[in-house]
Amino acid sequence: MGKLFGLFGHPVGHSMSPTMHNDAFANLGLSHYYQAFDVREENLETAVKGVRALGISGFNVTIPHKVAIMQYLDEIDTEAEIIGAVNTVVLRDNKLIGYNTDGIGYVRSLLELVDKEELKQKSILVIGAGGAARAIVTSMLRFGAQNVSITNRTIEKAEELVEHCRGQNMKILSLNEAEKGIDQFEVIINTTSVGMSPNIDEIPLAIENIKKGTILSDIVYNPLKTKWLALGEEKGAIIHNGVGMFVYQGAEAFEMWTDSKPDYARMKEIVMKRLGG
Ligand code: ATR
Repeated sequence: MGKLFGLFGHPVGHSMSPTMHNDAFANLGLSHYYQAFDVREENLETAVKGVRALGISGFNVTIPHKVAIMQYLDEIDTEAEIIGAVNTVVLRDNKLIGYNTDGIGYVRSLLELVDKEELKQKSILVIGAGGAARAIVTSMLRFGAQNVSITNRTIEKAEELVEHCRGQNMKILSLNEAEKGIDQFEVIINTTSVGMSPNIDEIPLAIENIKKGTILSDIVYNPLKTKWLALGEEKGAIIHNGVGMFVYQGAEAFEMWTDSKPDYARMKEIVMKRLGG
Protein backbone atom coordinates (compact mmCIF):
# COMPACT_ATOMS: atom_id res chain seq x y z
CA MET A 1 0.00 0.00 0.00
CA GLY A 2 1.19 3.52 -0.73
CA LYS A 3 2.47 5.52 2.22
CA LEU A 4 1.94 9.17 2.97
CA PHE A 5 4.84 11.58 3.58
CA GLY A 6 4.72 15.30 4.14
CA LEU A 7 6.25 18.66 4.84
CA PHE A 8 5.38 20.80 7.85
CA GLY A 9 6.20 24.48 7.51
CA HIS A 10 4.75 27.92 7.20
CA PRO A 11 4.51 29.08 4.50
CA VAL A 12 4.96 26.05 2.22
CA GLY A 13 3.23 27.22 -0.96
CA HIS A 14 6.46 27.63 -2.93
CA SER A 15 8.17 24.47 -1.70
CA MET A 16 9.82 22.37 -4.37
CA SER A 17 9.83 19.26 -2.17
CA PRO A 18 6.40 17.83 -3.20
CA THR A 19 7.24 17.85 -6.91
CA MET A 20 10.71 16.46 -6.27
CA HIS A 21 9.60 13.60 -3.99
CA ASN A 22 6.44 12.65 -5.88
CA ASP A 23 8.38 12.36 -9.12
CA ALA A 24 11.02 10.22 -7.36
CA PHE A 25 8.32 7.89 -5.92
CA ALA A 26 6.71 7.48 -9.35
CA ASN A 27 10.09 6.97 -10.99
CA LEU A 28 10.82 4.03 -8.67
CA GLY A 29 7.30 2.58 -9.11
CA LEU A 30 6.37 3.39 -5.50
CA SER A 31 2.75 4.40 -4.90
CA HIS A 32 3.65 6.79 -2.06
CA TYR A 33 2.58 10.43 -1.90
CA TYR A 34 4.21 13.58 -0.49
CA GLN A 35 2.02 16.47 0.61
CA ALA A 36 3.00 19.92 1.88
CA PHE A 37 1.03 20.95 4.97
CA ASP A 38 0.85 24.62 5.95
CA VAL A 39 1.17 24.32 9.74
CA ARG A 40 1.12 27.45 11.87
CA GLU A 41 3.27 27.55 15.01
CA GLU A 42 0.29 27.19 17.35
CA ASN A 43 -0.81 24.04 15.50
CA LEU A 44 2.46 22.14 15.43
CA GLU A 45 1.76 19.90 18.42
CA THR A 46 -1.69 18.94 17.07
CA ALA A 47 -0.19 18.31 13.65
CA VAL A 48 2.30 15.84 15.18
CA LYS A 49 -0.57 14.09 16.97
CA GLY A 50 -2.21 13.89 13.55
CA VAL A 51 0.88 12.14 12.18
CA ARG A 52 0.57 9.45 14.86
CA ALA A 53 -3.21 9.14 14.47
CA LEU A 54 -3.12 8.87 10.69
CA GLY A 55 0.05 6.79 10.49
CA ILE A 56 1.89 9.25 8.24
CA SER A 57 5.20 7.45 7.60
CA GLY A 58 7.55 10.41 7.69
CA PHE A 59 7.83 14.10 7.08
CA ASN A 60 10.17 17.01 6.52
CA VAL A 61 10.19 20.04 8.73
CA THR A 62 11.03 23.51 7.54
CA ILE A 63 10.89 27.13 8.72
CA PRO A 64 9.71 27.97 11.38
CA HIS A 65 9.47 24.51 13.02
CA LYS A 66 12.97 22.97 12.83
CA VAL A 67 13.74 23.59 16.51
CA ALA A 68 10.21 23.51 18.01
CA ILE A 69 9.47 20.08 16.51
CA MET A 70 12.11 18.43 18.71
CA GLN A 71 9.99 18.54 21.88
CA TYR A 72 7.23 16.45 20.23
CA LEU A 73 9.44 13.58 19.01
CA ASP A 74 10.33 10.30 20.76
CA GLU A 75 14.01 10.22 19.77
CA ILE A 76 16.55 12.57 18.23
CA ASP A 77 19.51 11.30 16.25
CA THR A 78 22.92 12.40 17.63
CA GLU A 79 23.82 14.61 14.68
CA ALA A 80 20.46 16.43 14.83
CA GLU A 81 20.95 16.80 18.58
CA ILE A 82 24.33 18.50 18.09
CA ILE A 83 22.97 20.69 15.29
CA GLY A 84 20.02 21.54 17.52
CA ALA A 85 17.43 21.24 14.75
CA VAL A 86 15.46 18.56 12.89
CA ASN A 87 14.45 18.65 9.23
CA THR A 88 13.41 15.02 8.74
CA VAL A 89 11.19 12.75 10.84
CA VAL A 90 10.77 9.01 10.39
CA LEU A 91 8.02 6.90 11.98
CA ARG A 92 9.73 3.65 12.99
CA ASP A 93 8.20 1.02 15.32
CA ASN A 94 5.59 3.56 16.33
CA LYS A 95 8.25 6.05 17.37
CA LEU A 96 8.85 9.43 15.77
CA ILE A 97 12.59 9.86 15.27
CA GLY A 98 14.14 13.19 14.29
CA TYR A 99 17.14 13.61 11.98
CA ASN A 100 18.89 16.48 10.29
CA THR A 101 19.90 15.87 6.66
CA ASP A 102 20.88 19.48 5.83
CA GLY A 103 24.53 19.17 6.79
CA ILE A 104 25.13 15.74 5.29
CA GLY A 105 23.19 16.91 2.22
CA TYR A 106 25.60 19.79 1.93
CA VAL A 107 28.68 17.56 2.31
CA ARG A 108 27.37 15.17 -0.35
CA SER A 109 26.83 18.07 -2.73
CA LEU A 110 30.41 19.23 -2.19
CA LEU A 111 31.72 15.72 -2.86
CA GLU A 112 30.52 16.15 -6.44
CA LEU A 113 33.42 18.58 -6.86
CA VAL A 114 36.17 17.15 -4.69
CA ASP A 115 37.49 13.77 -3.67
CA LYS A 116 36.57 12.54 -0.17
CA GLU A 117 40.11 12.25 1.19
CA GLU A 118 41.16 15.55 -0.37
CA LEU A 119 38.20 17.37 1.20
CA LYS A 120 39.23 16.18 4.66
CA GLN A 121 42.61 17.88 4.25
CA LYS A 122 41.41 21.10 2.61
CA SER A 123 41.59 24.40 4.39
CA ILE A 124 37.91 25.38 4.74
CA LEU A 125 36.36 28.73 5.69
CA VAL A 126 32.72 28.86 6.79
CA ILE A 127 30.97 32.25 6.73
CA GLY A 128 28.06 32.59 9.16
CA ALA A 129 27.08 31.11 12.51
CA GLY A 130 23.33 30.50 12.28
CA GLY A 131 21.32 27.29 11.92
CA ALA A 132 22.61 26.49 8.44
CA ALA A 133 26.23 26.99 9.57
CA ARG A 134 25.66 24.71 12.56
CA ALA A 135 24.36 21.93 10.30
CA ILE A 136 27.20 22.30 7.82
CA VAL A 137 30.00 22.57 10.40
CA THR A 138 28.68 19.62 12.42
CA SER A 139 28.51 17.39 9.33
CA MET A 140 31.88 18.58 8.04
CA LEU A 141 33.55 17.72 11.36
CA ARG A 142 31.81 14.33 11.57
CA PHE A 143 32.86 13.67 7.98
CA GLY A 144 36.46 14.22 9.09
CA ALA A 145 37.35 17.73 7.88
CA GLN A 146 40.57 18.60 9.72
CA ASN A 147 41.00 22.26 8.97
CA VAL A 148 37.83 24.33 9.40
CA SER A 149 37.76 28.04 10.24
CA ILE A 150 34.74 30.18 10.85
CA THR A 151 34.01 33.85 10.39
CA ASN A 152 30.89 35.81 11.27
CA ARG A 153 29.68 39.40 11.58
CA THR A 154 29.02 38.77 15.28
CA ILE A 155 32.11 37.05 16.65
CA GLU A 156 30.36 35.84 19.85
CA LYS A 157 27.96 33.80 17.72
CA ALA A 158 30.92 32.14 15.99
CA GLU A 159 32.38 31.30 19.40
CA GLU A 160 29.07 29.80 20.53
CA LEU A 161 28.89 27.72 17.37
CA VAL A 162 32.39 26.32 17.84
CA GLU A 163 31.59 25.35 21.41
CA HIS A 164 28.25 23.88 20.45
CA CYS A 165 29.63 21.85 17.52
CA ARG A 166 32.56 20.61 19.61
CA GLY A 167 34.96 21.99 17.03
CA GLN A 168 38.08 21.69 19.18
CA ASN A 169 40.51 22.59 16.43
CA MET A 170 38.47 25.26 14.68
CA LYS A 171 39.83 28.77 14.22
CA ILE A 172 37.61 31.81 14.65
CA LEU A 173 38.26 34.90 12.53
CA SER A 174 36.70 38.34 12.29
CA LEU A 175 35.35 39.23 8.82
CA ASN A 176 38.37 41.53 8.42
CA GLU A 177 40.86 38.83 9.29
CA ALA A 178 39.12 36.38 6.98
CA GLU A 179 39.24 38.85 4.09
CA LYS A 180 42.93 39.59 4.67
CA GLY A 181 43.87 35.93 4.76
CA ILE A 182 41.40 34.77 2.13
CA ASP A 183 44.12 33.33 -0.12
CA GLN A 184 44.95 30.59 2.43
CA PHE A 185 41.55 28.95 1.99
CA GLU A 186 40.82 26.23 -0.56
CA VAL A 187 37.08 25.96 0.13
CA ILE A 188 34.99 28.99 1.15
CA ILE A 189 31.36 28.46 2.11
CA ASN A 190 28.70 31.13 2.56
CA THR A 191 26.01 29.82 4.92
CA THR A 192 24.26 33.19 5.38
CA SER A 193 21.39 34.49 3.29
CA VAL A 194 23.46 37.47 2.13
CA GLY A 195 23.02 37.78 -1.65
CA MET A 196 19.69 35.97 -1.76
CA SER A 197 16.88 37.52 -3.80
CA PRO A 198 15.79 40.32 -3.49
CA ASN A 199 19.14 41.52 -2.01
CA ILE A 200 21.12 40.31 -5.00
CA ASP A 201 23.76 43.08 -4.88
CA GLU A 202 25.10 42.07 -1.46
CA ILE A 203 28.10 39.82 -0.89
CA PRO A 204 29.02 38.06 2.38
CA LEU A 205 32.81 38.55 2.19
CA ALA A 206 35.32 40.31 -0.08
CA ILE A 207 37.19 37.78 -2.20
CA GLU A 208 39.51 39.91 -4.36
CA ASN A 209 42.56 37.90 -3.33
CA ILE A 210 41.28 34.33 -3.60
CA LYS A 211 43.50 31.82 -5.32
CA LYS A 212 42.56 30.42 -8.71
CA GLY A 213 40.90 27.03 -8.29
CA THR A 214 39.44 27.83 -4.86
CA ILE A 215 36.04 26.20 -4.37
CA LEU A 216 33.56 28.99 -3.70
CA SER A 217 30.32 27.61 -2.35
CA ASP A 218 27.10 29.48 -1.61
CA ILE A 219 24.11 27.78 0.00
CA VAL A 220 21.86 30.36 -1.67
CA TYR A 221 20.13 29.02 -4.82
CA ASN A 222 17.94 31.98 -5.62
CA PRO A 223 19.54 33.40 -7.74
CA LEU A 224 21.36 30.31 -9.02
CA LYS A 225 24.51 32.40 -9.44
CA THR A 226 24.81 35.03 -6.71
CA LYS A 227 26.89 38.16 -7.26
CA TRP A 228 29.50 36.59 -4.95
CA LEU A 229 29.74 33.45 -7.08
CA ALA A 230 29.94 35.54 -10.26
CA LEU A 231 32.83 37.57 -8.74
CA GLY A 232 34.54 34.35 -7.74
CA GLU A 233 34.14 32.89 -11.20
CA GLU A 234 35.88 35.95 -12.67
CA LYS A 235 38.80 35.24 -10.33
CA GLY A 236 39.04 31.63 -11.51
CA ALA A 237 37.19 29.98 -8.62
CA ILE A 238 35.23 26.76 -9.02
CA ILE A 239 31.71 27.80 -8.08
CA HIS A 240 29.04 25.72 -6.32
CA ASN A 241 25.50 26.90 -5.52
CA GLY A 242 22.90 25.72 -2.99
CA VAL A 243 20.82 23.54 -5.32
CA GLY A 244 22.88 20.45 -4.52
CA MET A 245 22.39 20.89 -0.78
CA PHE A 246 18.64 21.21 -1.23
CA VAL A 247 18.40 18.15 -3.46
CA TYR A 248 20.69 15.96 -1.33
CA GLN A 249 18.93 16.84 1.94
CA GLY A 250 15.78 15.60 0.20
CA ALA A 251 17.49 12.52 -1.22
CA GLU A 252 18.83 11.60 2.24
CA ALA A 253 15.31 11.87 3.71
CA PHE A 254 13.90 9.84 0.80
CA GLU A 255 16.42 7.06 1.45
CA MET A 256 15.53 6.94 5.14
CA TRP A 257 11.82 6.73 4.41
CA THR A 258 11.89 4.21 1.56
CA ASP A 259 15.20 2.32 1.84
CA SER A 260 15.57 3.11 -1.88
CA LYS A 261 17.97 5.45 -3.63
CA PRO A 262 16.26 8.10 -5.73
CA ASP A 263 17.64 9.21 -9.09
CA TYR A 264 19.57 12.23 -7.86
CA ALA A 265 20.23 13.72 -11.31
CA ARG A 266 16.53 13.60 -12.09
CA MET A 267 15.65 15.26 -8.78
CA LYS A 268 18.14 18.01 -9.51
CA GLU A 269 16.75 18.52 -13.01
CA ILE A 270 13.25 19.04 -11.60
CA VAL A 271 14.50 21.58 -9.06
CA MET A 272 16.59 23.41 -11.67
CA LYS A 273 13.56 23.63 -13.96
CA ARG A 274 11.52 25.15 -11.13
CA LEU A 275 14.31 27.68 -10.49
CA GLY A 276 14.48 28.61 -14.14
CA GLY A 277 17.97 27.15 -14.65
P1 ATR B 1 19.91 30.36 9.33
O1 ATR B 1 19.18 29.48 10.29
O2 ATR B 1 19.29 30.45 7.97
O3 ATR B 1 21.37 30.05 9.26
P2 ATR B 1 20.16 32.54 11.23
O4 ATR B 1 20.22 31.54 12.31
O5 ATR B 1 19.30 33.74 11.38
O6 ATR B 1 19.71 31.87 9.87
O7 ATR B 1 21.68 32.99 10.91
C1 ATR B 1 21.96 33.95 9.96
C2 ATR B 1 23.48 34.07 9.75
O8 ATR B 1 23.70 34.99 8.68
C3 ATR B 1 24.21 34.66 10.94
O9 ATR B 1 25.53 34.17 10.93
C4 ATR B 1 24.19 36.17 10.63
O10 ATR B 1 25.21 36.91 11.23
P3 ATR B 1 25.05 37.45 12.75
O11 ATR B 1 25.35 36.28 13.65
O12 ATR B 1 26.05 38.53 12.86
O13 ATR B 1 23.63 37.94 12.87
C5 ATR B 1 24.41 36.13 9.16
N1 ATR B 1 23.88 37.31 8.48
C6 ATR B 1 22.59 37.56 8.17
N2 ATR B 1 22.47 38.74 7.53
C7 ATR B 1 23.73 39.25 7.43
C8 ATR B 1 24.28 40.44 6.84
N3 ATR B 1 23.52 41.35 6.23
N4 ATR B 1 25.63 40.60 6.91
C9 ATR B 1 26.41 39.71 7.52
N5 ATR B 1 25.95 38.57 8.08
C10 ATR B 1 24.64 38.34 8.04
